[in-house]
Amino acid sequence: MTKALTLWRDARLATMDGAAAWGWIERGAMLVRGDTLQWVGDEADLPAALATEKAHEAVHEHSLGGALVTPGLIDCHTHLVYGGHRAGEFEQRLEGASYDQIARAGGGIRSTVAATRAADEDTLFALARPRALALRAEGVTTVEIKSGYGLDADTEARCLRVARRLGRELPIGVRCTSLAAHALPPEFSGQPDAYLDAACAWLPRLHAEGLVDAVDAFCDEIAFTPAQTRRMFDAARALGLPVKLHAEQLTNQHGAALAAGYGALSCDHLEHLDDEGIRAMAASGTVAVLLPGAYYFLRETKLPPVAALRAAGVPIAIASDHNPGSSPGLSLLLMLNMACTLFRLTPEEALRGVTVHAARALGLAATHGRLAAGCRADFAVHDVDHPRELAYWFGRNPCRRVVLGGQEITP
Ligand code: NIG
Ligand code: FE
Repeated sequence: MTKALTLWRDARLATMDGAAAWGWIERGAMLVRGDTLQWVGDEADLPAALATEKAHEAVHEHSLGGALVTPGLIDCHTHLVYGGHRAGEFEQRLEGASYDQIARAGGGIRSTVAATRAADEDTLFALARPRALALRAEGVTTVEIKSGYGLDADTEARCLRVARRLGRELPIGVRCTSLAAHALPPEFSGQPDAYLDAACAWLPRLHAEGLVDAVDAFCDEIAFTPAQTRRMFDAARALGLPVKLHAEQLTNQHGAALAAGYGALSCDHLEHLDDEGIRAMAASGTVAVLLPGAYYFLRETKLPPVAALRAAGVPIAIASDHNPGSSPGLSLLLMLNMACTLFRLTPEEALRGVTVHAARALGLAATHGRLAAGCRADFAVHDVDHPRELAYWFGRNPCRRVVLGGQEITP
């Protein structure tokens, strides 16, 4: 049986598709069948589109009264599943301790690992659910969720299961990334290679359980070396999994060039990225995911090389990096504002960064992040006149309706 056809009309569409600014359609309409956009265009062309669809059945129609519609927003880098919080470390940093001093003293990621290991699956789910709902309330329809606060086979699997469950139960689109190479757990202190042996050995099991869409690592002085990162990437490659990297966040380890050599989907953070890394990313089509929340919250002063990335044609995405240590924020719209004020992106670049480029950072370029025929019918309706306002207001949520796979989500 063919699925019912739904028409969404009288919308101003920022399709983010094609070369025109915002992919703008002033008086647009969308035809949705099942969970897929069948046709997107000017209302004037609707009769022809309906004829092509041979839609003899009754078409369910929604008139949007001229409201602004964007693709569902995509938060392509989060660490949403964890126990506890680190407000105490926030105070310590305000008193002068640095992020890496706290990490080297056994705090930082390790303290969240302890709290996460102590929490069972239902507890982790109950903690993560309102975080995902807060993102979705602003129009986020796809979120990437990394593990990396378990650092043993059982807890890593538990966190990824919670991420999959969020996808099913909220619902929201979820992509799961294994970040076992996030930090060294205390039981492997001083033995990073032995820990990586273990992490590379459990990866196939997690993958076989359907828990892994990509593999990430943290390559930095306080985390893993380039050679260790390579080991994790080789394990991913052996399973046919794409890779991503927390690269050049605190120091330049030349991780971006390494990741680009593996055809990485994205390199993320990048404050210390150099020209060689930019060239390598451009050549491999790797997305630069910028994380203004972490830059802001860690009070960094070294800016990511936005102008050089732009000049090299590297696609730029923006994400929340939600995590308890370096970016405890839950507003992707605030990240758009910060991407403009702190990193000097244009509002249009910022919106591309949470739609079309974010989709690419997750390997979803063909189906997500644009309003175009063949893409999933994920979109958000916003109470603003122009899409540039999505990057302009902060502390205000103008999102009025969220549609996920053709179904309207009740908040
Ligand atoms: O993306 N850079 C490493 N990982 C996280 C921070 C994790 C933490 O501090 O808990 C990030 O910023
Ligand atoms: Fe991160």
